[in-house]
Amino acid sequence: MTSKKSKDPWPTKAVMEQIYQEHFWGGEDSDFYSGEGSHDTKIIQPYIDAVILFLKSHNNQLSVCDLGCGDFNVGKELVPFAKAYVAIDIVEGLIERNRQLFNADHLTFKCQDIAQDDLPKANCVIIRQVFQHLSNQEIQQILDKLTDYKYLILTEHIPIGNFTPNVDIIANSQNRLKHHSGVDVLVEPFNFVVKEFEVINEVLLDDNSRIMTTLFTL
Ligand SMILES: C[S@@+](CC[C@H](N)C(=O)[O-])C[C@H]1O[C@@H](n2cnc3c(N)ncnc32)[C@H](O)[C@@H]1O
Repeated sequence: MTSKKSKDPWPTKAVMEQIYQEHFWGGEDSDFYSGEGSHDTKIIQPYIDAVILFLKSHNNQLSVCDLGCGDFNVGKELVPFAKAYVAIDIVEGLIERNRQLFNADHLTFKCQDIAQDDLPKANCVIIRQVFQHLSNQEIQQILDKLTDYKYLILTEHIPIGNFTPNVDIIANSQNRLKHHSGVDVLVEPFNFVVKEFEVINEVLLDDNSRIMTTLFTL
């Protein structure tokens, strides 16, 4: 008789730690590197400009919670335009490194699992290129916690043209593009309820994919 061992997926914390340790997102010469999507000026500058415009439209008075802040190459540009800024990531060593590198009186780093732990209060949540690496269950767990925030700025790498949204994956370094899919929180299985939404930035990466940033009013 053969017994079939059930394969439990690795915990997301271990997955993300391995991604950074093994440089799956590149940056062999860096201690922690969150990928080209966090460093390529063509990708990040239009995003940074769009988010700063939004934060300025609130006279820099919004408190911000950055979920899955990564190496903070992007987040660091937004800090001056927020009243308070809490940046969270699941990778302990990365958060420790960010604490050493980035300092401001109104900036705090926390090591938390945003799918499992209670999230800090803030006016605005930023989630940039995080959902695309997580399972649908984790995305749902996070969405369930966003109802007390006023704004969500969500960035996802998605296919160009028609695609099947929200094909489920287990947490990993890649996204849903190889399944010709991408995250769309407004449709099944999430059906996330929002008051309004607006695409505030879109960067075409190649003939097949784009990085889209949507501002949701919750
Ligand atoms: C591709 S990086 C994006 C980093 C940053 N948001 C940016 O755009 O530059 C995704 C980040 O999400 C973090 N992450 C993934 N799952 C998480 C979880 N459950 N809780 C907290 N952080 C998580 C990873 O450790 C990683 O740093």
